Amino acid sequence: MTDPRHPSVPAVTWRREGPVLLVTIDHPPVNALGVEVRRGLLAALDAAQADVAVQAVLLLGKGRNFIAGADIREFGQPPQAPLLTDVCNRIEACPRPVIAAVQGAAFGGGLEVVLAAHYRLAVPGAKFALPEVTLGLLPGAGGTQRAPRLIGVEAALKLMLDGKPVAARQAADLGLVDRLATGTDPQAEGLAYAHELLAAGAAVRPTRDRAIAADAVPAARQAIEAARGSLNKKHRGLFSPARIVDAVEAVLDVPFDEGLRLERSFFLQCLDTPQRAALVHAFFAEREAAKVPEAGRARPRSLERIGIVGGGTMGAGIAVAMLDAGLPVVMIERDDPSLARGQAHVAKVYDSLVQRGRLDAAERDRRLTLFSGSTDYAALAQADLVVEAVFEDMAVKSAVFAELDRVCKPGAVLASNTSYLDINALAKTVARPQDVIGLHFFSPANIMKLLEIVVPEQVADDVVATGFALAKRLKKVAVRAGVCDGFIGNRILAVYRQAADYLLADGASPYQIDQAVRHFGFPMGPFQVTDLAGGDIGWATRKRRAATRDPLLRYVPAADRLCERGWFGQKTGRGWYLYPDGARVGQEDPEVLAIVAEVRQQLGAVQRTFTEDEILRRYLAAMINEGANVVHQGIALRPLDVDVAMLYGYGFPRHRGGPLHYADQVGLDKILADIHEFAAQDPHFWKPSPLLLQLVAQGRRFQDLNQLQQD
Ligand code: 3HC
Ligand code: NAI
Repeated sequence: MTDPRHPSVPAVTWRREGPVLLVTIDHPPVNALGVEVRRGLLAALDAAQADVAVQAVLLLGKGRNFIAGADIREFGQPPQAPLLTDVCNRIEACPRPVIAAVQGAAFGGGLEVVLAAHYRLAVPGAKFALPEVTLGLLPGAGGTQRAPRLIGVEAALKLMLDGKPVAARQAADLGLVDRLATGTDPQAEGLAYAHELLAAGAAVRPTRDRAIAADAVPAARQAIEAARGSLNKKHRGLFSPARIVDAVEAVLDVPFDEGLRLERSFFLQCLDTPQRAALVHAFFAEREAAKVPEAGRARPRSLERIGIVGGGTMGAGIAVAMLDAGLPVVMIERDDPSLARGQAHVAKVYDSLVQRGRLDAAERDRRLTLFSGSTDYAALAQADLVVEAVFEDMAVKSAVFAELDRVCKPGAVLASNTSYLDINALAKTVARPQDVIGLHFFSPANIMKLLEIVVPEQVADDVVATGFALAKRLKKVAVRAGVCDGFIGNRILAVYRQAADYLLADGASPYQIDQAVRHFGFPMGPFQVTDLAGGDIGWATRKRRAATRDPLLRYVPAADRLCERGWFGQKTGRGWYLYPDGARVGQEDPEVLAIVAEVRQQLGAVQRTFTEDEILRRYLAAMINEGANVVHQGIALRPLDVDVAMLYGYGFPRHRGGPLHYADQVGLDKILADIHEFAAQDPHFWKPSPLLLQLVAQGRRFQDLNQLQQD
């Protein structure tokens, strides 16, 4: 039973040590349960039964994790025998006690193996999860039937619907684990436990034989109904969560084997959905995005101390992100009052975490001990990396970079958080352009997952590699972007935002557009986003660019009319929506509609009505077309980089996989036909991307471009 990635090494090995058969899964990188592991496990169980000297079986996973789950790469391919569910049944049916000793992750199918074993041990650091829901699936190897029998219906539902890991201690409290070891070696701890069990004459303990106690049934039914009732709110538009609830309900209503059959049929239904394909795409795309040529060629520089210049919204948020990762931060501001504001800003973020119970006060204080501030650039002399987050103004930023050039040690990485400015030009202002890079964080920087790593012409490979290493340390998802106006995300945003303005001008209301976009799965529509971020930011940019605006493109001044009235959104109590008494959810505003009507009249736009589908087709086609341009021009390395940026920075619904994956699912010919149709009314805005034209002509998909040769 060999592993195709490591053909000389068997994926599962076994050897007897006294009365215990040690069965070790050794299938790098994470012991996923590919076909060779499943076959290996069956062979090991055969060996256990064939050898009369074996009195117990100990299941172990080699490396950092026990088992990360089914092999996600196999989904979408024809299933190969044996199925994992059959392997789990064989483990459970083993006539000698089977013990699972877990370190690291026992996730998905990995936890299902654990559930099928008769005894369960965890070493410190072990974590347990049924994350299938995050892949559009449900546990398909008995998990929906065994977990409720072991830990109760309510806890099992939570595990499956949240998909989040629980730590060893919590797993023991839940009853997922029988023994919490103090030592860290699963083999030694597992063997000791096995001997203890044998000495006590412990028998096999099939989980399938456990029943939900009669007096627990009413509460179980209540938990099922509650979960069903919350599906629309917590899992809106998703297919697999409802099937999870149905499968768990079967535990109360049908015998175990019938429950397994139901689970299998639900699993196959989920496997077949576009949601599953999209979520699996998102899983791999997130990891592939970190594989960039520069990181393949060079090792990251070491990062011990961080400098941040600017303590405004972004500087403070970036400081918190660094401190949360245990990196000491020095903040530089232009004068004492600004520094005090910046420091207060950081303290406020932490205080609010403490108030909301997300962090304890001692931990806040500990993190803040790593934080200092100064108005003197000399304080940056020891910094390994400095992030500049001052005003979005080339003159101000160049002055800051001149200071950095003067004080920073050789080899320090000099990063800018600019949203739009030309980092090539900024790099040229210093004597060490090879050290200059863009690190584009998103607001709030301590929360938002996306980090665009903007790669200027002259930057050294190891500086790019350092950016990716930093992202990993900050637990962020990094995407490599080339230099252009807006990089990947903001550049695409500008175009679909414009499509929303044109919809508005032509007859759709902002509320209708927002609703259509929400129904697609975004958490918010574009007008809600503007209200949240503050309308003044976009207004300032529009004013700055007024002189260079393409005169052939329509300009819709509705947002300007709101800003002229001081309606900047939530922070001013009104914008596109009304926010009475500091409300966070806006109300529709008839005055805004009147302003929009006036603007439409001035523009002389032909008015029409739009269905939700028509709104979405335009909004998404604009996003996809600009995404294609971004790939075509090499700003994004691959279509998946566009998908990852939009998923993690712009709220694109994960179960749709990102705009370019979604476009593949819809069919690129259909997207192109839409663009041609819209171009008939507005040919200046709707210009098909050369890449889209090319792919359609060749009958190819964006996915075909996702393979990147590492050089
Ligand atoms: N199948 C295939 N490949 C997997 C995998 C899996 N289940 N889990 C991880 N990998 C791959 C990754 O793609 C990556 O490959 P690469 O090096 O070629 O890019 C490599 O393993 C390392 O993964 P990470 O970068 O994620 O490593 P970390 O150390 O950061 O995290 C982990 C390890 C916590 C185990 C994390 O990989 C993880 O959460 N994996 C997914 C777990 C999961 O979703 N399991 C459920 C699968 S569905 C299932 O089990 C169905 C069943 O019910 C029938
Ligand atoms: P901000 O106006 O909130 O903060 C800027 C800070 O820089 C102020 O505290 C100011 O005192 C300080 N500053 C100005 N000149 C300085 C100098 N010479 N030396 C030291 N400090 C100086 O601005 P914000 O929103 O934090 O933006 C900063 C940068 O981040 C800009 O380049 C912006 O484009 C970018 N950005 C902003 C995002 C946002 O959502 N606000 C998102 C991503 C990037």
